[in-house]
Amino acid sequence: MDKIVALCKRRGFIFQNSEIYGGQNGFWDYGPLGTELKRNVRDVWYRDMVSAHNELLQPAGAPSTFQMVGLESSIIMHPQVWKCSGHYDLFHDMMVDCHACKGRFRQDHIPSTPCPQKPSKCVGEHTGCRLTEPREFNLMMKTIIGALGTDDDAAFLRPETAQGIFVNFKNVVDSSRVKLPFGICQVGKSFRNEITPRNFTFRSREFEQMEIEFFCHPSQSREWYTYWRDRRYNWYLNLGITRERLILRDHHQDELAHYSVGTADIEYAFPFLDAGEYGELEGIAHRGDFDLRSHMEGKLAKNAAGQLELERTADGQPKHRGSGKDLSYFDDQTRERFTPHVIEPSAGADRGTLAFICEAYHEDQQPDENGAMQERVVMRFHPRLAPVKVAVFPLIKKDGMPEKAMEIYGELKAAGLSVQYDQQAAIGRRYRRQDEIGTPYCLTIDGDTAKDGCVTIRDRDTLQQERIPVSKVVDEIQTRLKG
Ligand code: GAP
Repeated sequence: MDKIVALCKRRGFIFQNSEIYGGQNGFWDYGPLGTELKRNVRDVWYRDMVSAHNELLQPAGAPSTFQMVGLESSIIMHPQVWKCSGHYDLFHDMMVDCHACKGRFRQDHIPSTPCPQKPSKCVGEHTGCRLTEPREFNLMMKTIIGALGTDDDAAFLRPETAQGIFVNFKNVVDSSRVKLPFGICQVGKSFRNEITPRNFTFRSREFEQMEIEFFCHPSQSREWYTYWRDRRYNWYLNLGITRERLILRDHHQDELAHYSVGTADIEYAFPFLDAGEYGELEGIAHRGDFDLRSHMEGKLAKNAAGQLELERTADGQPKHRGSGKDLSYFDDQTRERFTPHVIEPSAGADRGTLAFICEAYHEDQQPDENGAMQERVVMRFHPRLAPVKVAVFPLIKKDGMPEKAMEIYGELKAAGLSVQYDQQAAIGRRYRRQDEIGTPYCLTIDGDTAKDGCVTIRDRDTLQQERIPVSKVVDEIQTRLKG
């Protein structure tokens, strides 16, 4: 993992936030290459889930055809949203403080080794006498709206993008002619005041989610749950994550969130975890009608019979009132009115990006110009995700080669491809620079180009080199990237 973190910094994938001031724990910045990579993760997700989805065709494994639309809601929402969703009362972790080192930990994340801050004072077993009693800590980040700055003006930065979708359910139905079943998709920032942010970007305080709320008839919700669970697992496989490091784990009954009747996690064997351990990339939850009903009726809780009902205070008043708006759905074919059930595939864009980085990292040995074996670091990103798609090199800086290379570079740029131009150092070193950032293809313009009108294309993974006509370069790269 240390090598991956070092590469991320050296080549401009991920930087510590506010680094020149010593950093801000739990926050990360993406450099030029990281920005391209994460944008590709988001764009590929949005394309595969929304733009390229054909609502006229029934995908394999889906119970029927369905529609998918996008949404962009704001980060700050009405405080009542979080009261009805349950986040205000329930979105907390248990926290403990250590009397010796003054460290603050999540109860389930207490380190077994001495704290780095004060190793002499902290023995690291954290045995009872050194720890405070666990207490609840709400993870929502607070902010103040407006100039008065009183507690009445407090609001929260959203801890998930999902609630923006639920509160807009009716708006989408009324404005976009969608019919059940359909999904509303949103990509955006979320914020959680994590007690112990750690493992590089894996647990951050500011991160990005890619969430789908899929609305369907209650009688079909289990089939849709299975469909989304499998489809989302395959999405990672299709983008190059290997089956050996990716698992689909069904939650045990006692792990389920208060609203959920079934949840599965897609988990990845991150290199910072112990052997056999996995970290969550995405959760697929069957949320039933909990969210829409909560925003209609008020905060719900399970009664003794396991049924959801309005939670009340001791004097019988609703604990948190809902909007009172009708968020049910009317099916004009069957003439039935009901509250849809929801299947929620909820992915982390930063965790996905980190998994793609970890999966891509490889070391091997390749001969240099003189035939001596050299260590090579190669990022084997899927071509759809690679931050730079193609690099263009003139073999030498004379005989018209730079001019021709610049012309080809311009054509690739005009086609909207992410391209790098490089004429510095020996060709082998230039290849290695591109391998280290995962560029799938390199084009070299050499002395023969002026005669035969061809350039050499070199494949990052097979290392095969072929001659292709200059006139076909853009088409060839685009075809290979789709492949
Ligand atoms: N709406 C459901 C929801 O938010 P979640 O399991 O809490 O569910 C979904 O979050 C995904 O968001 C996770 O699978 C993970 O990829 C990402 N995520 C959650 N907390 C995160 C954090 N502190 N840092 C980075 N990513 C996080």
